[in-house]
Amino acid sequence: MKLLYGLALVFLLAAASCKADEEITCEQNEPFTCGNTDILSSKNFGKDFIFGVASSAYQIEGGRGRGVNVWDGFSHRYPEKSGSDLKNGDTSCESYTRWKKDVEIMGELNATGYRFSLAWSRIIPKGKVSRGVNQGGLDYYHSLIDALLEKNITPFVTLYHWDLPQTLQDEYEGFLDRQIIQDFKDYADLCFKEFGGKVKHWITINQLFTVPTRGYALGTDAPGRCSPMVDSKHRCYGGNSSTEPYIVAHNELLAHAAVVDLYRKNYADQKGKIGPVMITRWFLPYDEADPSCREAADRMNQFFHGWYMEPLTKGKYPDIMRKIVGSRLPNFTEAEAKLVAGSYDFLGLNYYVTQYAQPKANPLLSEKHTAMMDAGVGLTYDNSRGEFIGPLFIEDKIAGNSYYYPKGIYYVMEYFKTQYNDPLIYVTENGFSTPSSENRCEAIADYKRIDYLCSHLCFLRKVIKDRGVNVRGYFAWALGDNYEFCKGFTVRFGLSYVNWDDLDDRNLKESGKWYQRFINGTSKNPTKQDFLRSSLSFLKARRRGLLADA
Ligand SMILES: *[C@@H]1O[C@H](CO)[C@@H](O)[C@H](O)[C@H]1NC(C)=O
Ligand SMILES: *[C@@H]1O[C@H](CO)[C@@H](O)[C@H](O)[C@H]1NC(C)=O
Ligand SMILES: *[C@@H]1O[C@H](CO)[C@@H](O)[C@H](O)[C@H]1NC(C)=O
Ligand SMILES: *[C@@H]1O[C@H](CO)[C@@H](O)[C@H](O)[C@H]1NC(C)=O
Repeated sequence: MKLLYGLALVFLLAAASCKADEEITCEQNEPFTCGNTDILSSKNFGKDFIFGVASSAYQIEGGRGRGVNVWDGFSHRYPEKSGSDLKNGDTSCESYTRWKKDVEIMGELNATGYRFSLAWSRIIPKGKVSRGVNQGGLDYYHSLIDALLEKNITPFVTLYHWDLPQTLQDEYEGFLDRQIIQDFKDYADLCFKEFGGKVKHWITINQLFTVPTRGYALGTDAPGRCSPMVDSKHRCYGGNSSTEPYIVAHNELLAHAAVVDLYRKNYADQKGKIGPVMITRWFLPYDEADPSCREAADRMNQFFHGWYMEPLTKGKYPDIMRKIVGSRLPNFTEAEAKLVAGSYDFLGLNYYVTQYAQPKANPLLSEKHTAMMDAGVGLTYDNSRGEFIGPLFIEDKIAGNSYYYPKGIYYVMEYFKTQYNDPLIYVTENGFSTPSSENRCEAIADYKRIDYLCSHLCFLRKVIKDRGVNVRGYFAWALGDNYEFCKGFTVRFGLSYVNWDDLDDRNLKESGKWYQRFINGTSKNPTKQDFLRSSLSFLKARRRGLLADA
């Protein structure tokens, strides 16, 4: 029965592919039909739409040849927080020495963009430009950028992907102190001067939301600060989870804005574009019929996206945050508000998952309070009917499983267009992990990653078409397997497989080969085997009645 259904599907797809230009339907809960590059490919997007892959310095480079950063400090101080395998970024896929291999794989993919980050401590080992610049670090990035340009791969360069030089954390607690603004500006100035002739797409800070919350509220990420009672094992070396996240976020916004101002004033002749990267999520009401759940979803949107986007568009925090957070939320002076509002040419949006929102009391006076409770929202992957939001995203016996929802990317894009003045958008991350317990063959046969990527691309294309959202590029996370923040090497996120015993041994996984066909716009049906595998695994979940029809 199952098999017949699968076969019927393959024939249906084959039939559909014959009709050119037919409207593509993006299935939310049926087997995804978009893995077929006859139906959905780069040709369904604009001519100059960039299709690339992404990475970040700490996760791929390895520690050789650079100064110590806060992820080095954090992962050595709290090895168990850096990954349940107790591993860290000391060694990874070693892109510092093997970057040519990276570029080769991107060439094989025919990618037209590469998003990577510069390691601040590789360029300025002691944090401040005044203390010296490492020529070896500059040379490394020059070689990489030149090799990309040679292959017509557009570099999207992130200045800060969480790996702050440790010395700036030790001296003044990094983003908790305003001194960060000048140091970040000096570092950016050097980068614009060095690389700005070749790099035309700059990203200031990756995922503005993450360091304040995970780094200063929960203590699960570097630098690892939180209130004494928030970490049940009392490992945070200091912090206040109720107050510090708002100060850190505020200083991120000011540092970001200062760098954008510098770029616009001093480097206009480079004719590049600059913006921040936001982590986005979509929030659906836990119970659609319950107004308090609909309000919770709205409130969550304000605390998750509005926290940064209202300052970036209007120079002020959302009213609901001002009301709830009160004096813990810093104020912008008039001059700062002016500097922050409009401080981007584009927005980089990362999207992975959607959650259900319901009201949850905010225990402000509890010693376990964190800024993340201020929204007064509880988030789950199942709704009031006990249905999961979509296919399994990450299996996690300790923290709980997560599930994904491809249509969420549609809602997020639509929301950013309507709420925030129709910005120019690049999707700077979207991707799927598989467990490292899989053997090589299993890891390479990653049909679930194809399901994930193609279903999101399907909805991305749909929202561009339906709503005219100004999206100009998409970067799959990640180029290759690498160190994952807080998970070590227990998961693999790459479109190419890295053999940890022989780092030169890399192979495109099935998802990489699919992305290659997708980018190439090639008329080549995937093998029947591909489709049977991915759709059947999906059907099984559906038959168990586990998926929501939200
Ligand atoms: C890359 O793209 C070019 C131009 O579109 C095409 O001729 C070539 O075959 C592609 N290469 C691969 C590996 O798909
Ligand atoms: C955090 O700071 C606030 C404001 O100074 C204070 O009221 C609160 O008790 C502090 N929380 C902890 C856990 O120290
Ligand atoms: C910010 O301004 C508001 C209204 O002007 C005021 O109530 C609040 O106390 C100020 N917050 C801080 C941290 O200064
Ligand atoms: C890319 O397209 C070209 C020309 O259409 C074709 O010859 C080539 O095989 C394709 N490459 C892949 C990897 O599909």
